[in-house]
Amino acid sequence: MSRSHDDCTGCPIASRRRFLAVAGGTLGALFAQATAIDARAGSTADEKRYAIPGGDGVSIDRAAEVILVRFHGQVFAFNLACPHENYALRWRDKDLRFQCPEHESRYQPDGTFVDGRATRHMDRFAIRREGTEVVVDLNMLYRSDKQSSEWAAAVVRL
Ligand code: FES
Repeated sequence: MSRSHDDCTGCPIASRRRFLAVAGGTLGALFAQATAIDARAGSTADEKRYAIPGGDGVSIDRAAEVILVRFHGQVFAFNLACPHENYALRWRDKDLRFQCPEHESRYQPDGTFVDGRATRHMDRFAIRREGTEVVVDLNMLYRSDKQSSEWAAAVVRL
């Protein structure tokens, strides 16, 4: 059975870059909601600026394919693509974790791999704080298996 273009559950990002989907609905105690966000003024093709989230939660920049997470006093920016075969990751409200819709790899809110076919944590973009914003460098994407120290340092501590 073929999938429609708008029903991109399980579509690799590489071929369906316009796809982004985040589970909606009620979230657990840690997260208020998963929302769509747009980069702020001052963003460029190489860097995206976002307001520091006011509380723990998950937001998606659909255009930039960035997942922004605030979790336990830390802010991370992840690549939307699953590190296994680039399918778009989803946030699961009821489990408070990410899950790949294609092969069901699961990840903690900080991107740590839990189980599934993937062999590394979610890829993190370089991120820094500037005042009330975080700046995400889209040219610096770190893999936990190849750039472990950079991956570990790709966090803004509040
Ligand atoms: S693409 Fe995500 S687990 Fe295979």
